[in-house]
Amino acid sequence: MDLADSASPIFPIMLTTPYNQGMNHPAPALSNSLLAAARAVAAVEGGQSLTEALADIPAELRPSAQALAFYAMRHWGEAIAIRRLLVQREPSSPIIGALVGLALLLLDVAMQDDASGRDPTAPLYTAHTLVDQSVQATQLQRSLVNYKGLVNAVLRRFQRERTALLAQIADDLEAQWNHPVWWIKALKKAYPDTWQSLLHTANQHPPLTLRVNLRQTTREAVQQAFAAKDIVATAFGPAGLVLDTPRPIASLPGYDQGWWSVQDAGAQLAAPLLDIKPGMRVLDACAAPGGKTAHLLELADVDLTVLDIDAQRLTRVEQNLKRLKLLRPGVKLIAESAIRTHLWWDEKPFDAVLADVPCTASGIVARHPDIRWLRRREDIAQTVKLQREILDSLWSVVAPGGKLLLVTCSIFPEECELQAQAFLARHAQAVRLEAPGQLLPTLPSAELPAGHDGFFYALFTRRA
Ligand SMILES: C[S@@+](CC[C@H](N)C(=O)[O-])C[C@H]1O[C@@H](n2cnc3c(N)ncnc32)[C@H](O)[C@@H]1O
Repeated sequence: MDLADSASPIFPIMLTTPYNQGMNHPAPALSNSLLAAARAVAAVEGGQSLTEALADIPAELRPSAQALAFYAMRHWGEAIAIRRLLVQREPSSPIIGALVGLALLLLDVAMQDDASGRDPTAPLYTAHTLVDQSVQATQLQRSLVNYKGLVNAVLRRFQRERTALLAQIADDLEAQWNHPVWWIKALKKAYPDTWQSLLHTANQHPPLTLRVNLRQTTREAVQQAFAAKDIVATAFGPAGLVLDTPRPIASLPGYDQGWWSVQDAGAQLAAPLLDIKPGMRVLDACAAPGGKTAHLLELADVDLTVLDIDAQRLTRVEQNLKRLKLLRPGVKLIAESAIRTHLWWDEKPFDAVLADVPCTASGIVARHPDIRWLRRREDIAQTVKLQREILDSLWSVVAPGGKLLLVTCSIFPEECELQAQAFLARHAQAVRLEAPGQLLPTLPSAELPAGHDGFFYALFTRRA
C-alpha cells in the first residue's frame, strides 16, 4: 500500500474557528483532523463520551477526526505507556497530551516496516507528514502554539528510539491489551480461559447490523434495494441483516422510510424472548433510545408503556417510533424513574416487563472503544446497586404468570449472572425460565453473526 503523502491532501478541509481560533493562515488539512481528534480524545480523558465529543466537531471534519479518535481509543494503553516514557511532566494542556499520544500511535504505524503485521484499519501516513502535521496542529489554536517544540522533540525522539522504547513497554499490561489494568484483571478472574480473546475481540471493528421492520417491508425487499446499490447484506435470525462492510447509514436505502433500524445482533434477541401477544400490557422500563421498544411494537400490537428516566433520551424513542411508523394508540411515553412506581404506575399489573437496565456497557466496547477508559472499577458496584433497586421495583408491577426480562450489555458477572441469582434469592415468587444467559462477543452462534456485542439475558416469571 502506498503511503499517503502530505502533498496529496487526503482531508482537503480548511477550517475556521474554533480550531484555528481567529488565526489568519489557512491550516494544512491533516493537522486540522489531528487537532480535532486530539480535542475529542482529551474530552474522553476528561470524562465525556466520544460520541458527545465528536458531535462538537464541524460536520465536514468529523469523519476524518472520528477515524483518528477511534483508532486512538483502541490503542490508548499503548499511547499512554509510550508518552509516559517520553514526556516526564504531563503538559498542562490535555489537548497536547492527547495530540502527542495520537501522533505517537500513528508514527508507530508509519514506521512499521513489516506491512503484514500492521493493523489494516490503521490510518497510514509517512513519518515525515505526521511529524510535520502534528507540529502544525499546535499552531491552529492560540493556547497551544508554545507546545510546538515539545511536540516536535517528542516525535523526533520516538523516531530515533522507537525499537528501544517499544521494548520498554513490552510487559506493560495496559499497553499490551489497550484496556485499563483493573478491567483486564476483572476479565481474567471471570473468564480464566477466554479473557485474552475477549480483550482481542474488543479491539476489532464490529459489523454493521440492521433489524428489518417487518411491519413496513420484507427482509428480501430490503436486500434487493441494497443490492441495487451494490450493498451486500446477509440475513440472520428472524429479521436481521449484517452488511459485508460497515458504511455510513445515510448511504443505505430505506432509513427515512422506516424499513430498518440499526441494532446489534445480540440486542435483537431481547424482544422475542418476552413472547408477547396482541393486547398484552407491556412495560419497557429503561427504553431509550428505543431499539428494543420498536422491536416490541414490530412483533405485536401491545399496550406499551415506555419509560426512561432521561427525558432528553426519551425524545429519541419518540423520533425513532415515528420514523418506523410505530407510534400508535396504546403507546405511552413517560419520563420517570422505574424505581418511583407510585409516580407512573396505574396499579394494573403488566404481562411482560423489559428491564434493559443501565450498566457499565462492558459488552459493547468494540463499538464504543472509549467506554473502557471512561469507566472506573467502582462503577461496577454502583450499577449493581442501581440495577437491584430497579429490578425490585419492577418486580412489584409484574402480573401473576407475567414475565420480567433482565438485560444488560455487560460481561462483568456482577451485573449479569450474579445479579440474576441474587434477584432469584430475594423473590420467592420468581421462577427462572430458559434464556441465553451470558452472551460473549467471542462466541458466534448459528443465530448470530461474528462480532456481535456482549449481552446478558435472564428471564423470570411470577408464580401464578
Ligand atoms: C441500556 S440503556 C437502554 C437501551 C434501550 N433499551 C434500547 O434498546 O435502545 C439504559 C437506559 O436506562 C435509563 N435509566 C437509567 N436509570 C433509570 C431509572 N432509574 N429508571 C428508568 N430508566 C433509567 C437510561 O437513561 C438509559 O436510557
